[in-house]
Amino acid sequence: HDAVDIIRTKRDGGCLTDDQIDWVIDAYTRGDVADEQMSALAMAILLQGMEPREIERWTAAMIASGERMDFSTLSRPTADKHSTGGVGDKITLPLAPLVAACGVAVPQLSGRGLGHTGGTLDKMEAIPGWRAELSNDEMLVQLEEVGAVVCAAGAGLAPADKKLYALRDVTGTVEAIPLIASSIMSKKIAEGTGALVLDVKVGSGAFMKTEADARELAERMVALGEAAGVRTVALLTDMSAPLGRTAGNGMEVTESVEVLRGGGPADVRELTLALAQEMVLASGVEGAAEIDVEQVLDSGAALELWERMIAAQGGDPAAEIPRGEHVAEVTAEESGVLTAMDAYQVGLAAWRLGAGRARKEDPVQAGAGVRWHATVGERVEAGQVLFTCHTETAERLDRGVETLAGAVTLDPQAEPFTRSLIIDRIGR
Ligand code: URA
Repeated sequence: HDAVDIIRTKRDGGCLTDDQIDWVIDAYTRGDVADEQMSALAMAILLQGMEPREIERWTAAMIASGERMDFSTLSRPTADKHSTGGVGDKITLPLAPLVAACGVAVPQLSGRGLGHTGGTLDKMEAIPGWRAELSNDEMLVQLEEVGAVVCAAGAGLAPADKKLYALRDVTGTVEAIPLIASSIMSKKIAEGTGALVLDVKVGSGAFMKTEADARELAERMVALGEAAGVRTVALLTDMSAPLGRTAGNGMEVTESVEVLRGGGPADVRELTLALAQEMVLASGVEGAAEIDVEQVLDSGAALELWERMIAAQGGDPAAEIPRGEHVAEVTAEESGVLTAMDAYQVGLAAWRLGAGRARKEDPVQAGAGVRWHATVGERVEAGQVLFTCHTETAERLDRGVETLAGAVTLDPQAEPFTRSLIIDRIGR
């Protein structure tokens, strides 16, 4: 095979053969296909697309580049969740212990944040002592004994994707549905989960800005999962405004614990319960149809499981979560109903305050972030505090505040309303 031939085929709108796909992924992983060749191919895929058959093969080739985990020795079924990412998306934190409290094992392999969306591991690391790196054996033991684990994906899982994703990040080729679908699903299938629930975000704070694109991505991923024997369901959910009331690592941990205590923001609770119910059903755990996840949440069982999950990874669930000591407020200039909040701007502000990183190796602040005191649909009076910014480094404060200028739209004529996050469900 020849990389240039493969690039030309895709450039001209042709389909790649199974052989070509297997070869190019393997050769790229080994270093025989150069980064510049793979980036040309990724751009050709972004512009020309791929047939479902090609995407399935591409995914299989990425899985075959590394190890596959096996949870079949566990005494309970497994279910995992993947979110395509958004601002203030801390759902994994309350969700994993809640689903585990229903008798399902939840292997939540997670990542760190890059750019304006936060990463689950960065959030969890705001808990003093908590450790993200576990060996596969430690993970299995914790899944059996506690039922939930949130940890870093090992380097052995889909190494082709690790290399390709880093390349796409710097070549403007992230936003290609075939590449996103195969990237996400190769890792989840290799991980070995029995069931998977996808939270596919739509809106200004998400990869997919339109419902049509989000739907196509969701359908593609559900098809890939089912073809690989993973029971897969997707929810399309609204990310036009950020989720909950906070964006920032420690602040989101605190908000998640409020949800586990039965309180917290209504949207975080709604989405946590909806995803939990789907995971329980998809897992096929005994008595799944009778399990009421809301009752389990309100019983305190999920909170107790959270505490065991944190302690099992060296964290102190009772420790105080750091909060940046440098604080500034943004107030409303007029009165009206808050009709829109730009998730991207809020995410960027949290990032500039120190919650996110510009380069992979940068540290993040546990105490940096943004709290919003009103959300979409609520009435606000002139002079009322809209945002509180926190940072651990005083010189970041002004940029964070400036980034929030114009982030909310207030309509003096509108009536207060409530919005539902869940747009649609895709899957059997
Ligand atoms: N997340 C992934 O893991 N891969 C993508 O391509 C996009 C988001």
